[in-house]
Amino acid sequence: MKPKETTFVRRFSRRQRIEHFAVMVLFTILAVTGLAQEFFHAGWAAGIIAGLGGIDRTRWIHRASGWLFTALALEHFANQMLAVMRGRARPSMVPNRKDMRDAMLTLRYYLRLSEEKAAFDRYDYRQKFEYWGLVLGGTIMILTGFMLLYPMQAARMLPGQLIPAAVIVHGYEGLLAFLVVITWHIFNAHLAPDVFPGDTSIFTGKISRERMQKEHPLEYARDYPELPAEAAEPAPEPALGAKPH
Ligand code: HEM
Repeated sequence: MKPKETTFVRRFSRRQRIEHFAVMVLFTILAVTGLAQEFFHAGWAAGIIAGLGGIDRTRWIHRASGWLFTALALEHFANQMLAVMRGRARPSMVPNRKDMRDAMLTLRYYLRLSEEKAAFDRYDYRQKFEYWGLVLGGTIMILTGFMLLYPMQAARMLPGQLIPAAVIVHGYEGLLAFLVVITWHIFNAHLAPDVFPGDTSIFTGKISRERMQKEHPLEYARDYPELPAEAAEPAPEPALGAKPH
């Protein structure tokens, strides 16, 4: 019997979609309420603070979202560890040597020094870089955020000079994270030629088979070997040392 033609394949689970939605909403609230406090002297910031009902309400919203953001980070971390330990997930976000080679290969390809395109697995090196940027930046924001939330307790455990340092780090790292998200992430998710005007896969959980073949050929070849041969263009040669895991 001819296998059923599929147009889409599943890329993200329900939990991953909910986590992405939650981090998107919470990060937006934290950035808006945090940056409005940092730049309180600017007209736009005063407008946001007044619109939210004053500085006390703005601070309350920021702190409550900070707690929720922390809970989400812990849930994500615990769930990922359990899933990998129980063999339900591959540690596909862990950077490896192939990412380094893929980055060099892509640079050479863009500079027209090579015809060869890197073949990616579940996540490419840019996606891993962005993910670990969020993990590292999120950890810094959570640690410094709690130092600002509980300065007396923090000063009992740490040198007191670290409290004003935490204010500076929290403010600048918050601004940096905001700028990275609105430039890099929005470009990759919305403006890049392959996904313009928007990549909906993280919301629907589905990705077209064509994109999967093109953007994640190693994962496609490993996880969907049963799909009709005529629908599958030959997957590009795996990049040097590519080892599907
Ligand atoms: C991850 C995204 C976050 C962003 C973008 C962000 C951004 C900011 C910014 C820009 C400020 C103003 C700093 C200044 O005035 O120089 C601020 C203040 C503050 N943030 Fe965050 N923040 C984030 C997460 C958190 C978390 C996880 C917590 C922990 C609960 C937290 C707690 C605080 C506190 C306590 C303040 C001082 C203002 C107040 O007392 O309400 N933030 N944040």
